[in-house]
Amino acid sequence: MTRKLVAGNWKMNLSLPEGIALAKEVEAQLLANPTGDVQVVLGVPFSHLTAISHALEGEVAVSAQDCSANESGAFTGEVSAMMVASTGAEYVILGHSERREYHGEENALLAEKVNMALEHGLKVIYCCGEVLSERENNQQFEVVGDQILEGLFHLSKEQMKEVVIAYEPVWAIGTGVTASSEQAQEMHAFIRSLLQKQYGVIAAENTSILYGGSCKPANAQELFSEKDVDGGLIGGASLKANDFVAIINSF
Ligand code: PGA
Repeated sequence: MTRKLVAGNWKMNLSLPEGIALAKEVEAQLLANPTGDVQVVLGVPFSHLTAISHALEGEVAVSAQDCSANESGAFTGEVSAMMVASTGAEYVILGHSERREYHGEENALLAEKVNMALEHGLKVIYCCGEVLSERENNQQFEVVGDQILEGLFHLSKEQMKEVVIAYEPVWAIGTGVTASSEQAQEMHAFIRSLLQKQYGVIAAENTSILYGGSCKPANAQELFSEKDVDGGLIGGASLKANDFVAIINSF
């Protein structure tokens, strides 16, 4: 089993035709030059999930960027985990810092979303990460520890197999500032130690822990060469097929 995974997070970008073209271009490049054991995922807007799932040939998996904590009902504008799964998407990104910041999503709500996603057969990419002031006050381990404990550690060992963790220092997202590979490794090793305490060595060793935050072709290789960095969650650079594939090929 491989831990290597690279996920794109398109955020709120691209029309549907643009999105289909980009997804197909990424997949075509990967089919022409197979990456071997790297799982590739595209995190696309809700409106694009079905068409992109159908346009792809199975080399690349599709992810939503959020889902509701509710099963169904009177929640205008929300999209449920069941709906996401029914499009052919296999993953959902939960707890992205932009959801936490702009939509007030907290760990307790995220724990409910995680449950809902797993119940409907989706794999979860669970995001965590500290803001700049927290790092400046040396609170990053406490903050990330709480995000993981409160959002994920109610899960069984079996359920944790369906979860990928993405460490994204908020100060590095979309800013051009990347965490150094030492800073990434330090936090990833800390996260793996938490997993080991909660679920044991094997579960900890099998969990993919991604780095996110201004990851690009120029720095991916250095980041991915760290022992506990299993890949990346890529925002801006996932909007260009060549850059995204170059990041995937950085392993
Ligand atoms: P970025 O975004 O690569 O543009 O910094 C990463 C993310 O928000 O997932």
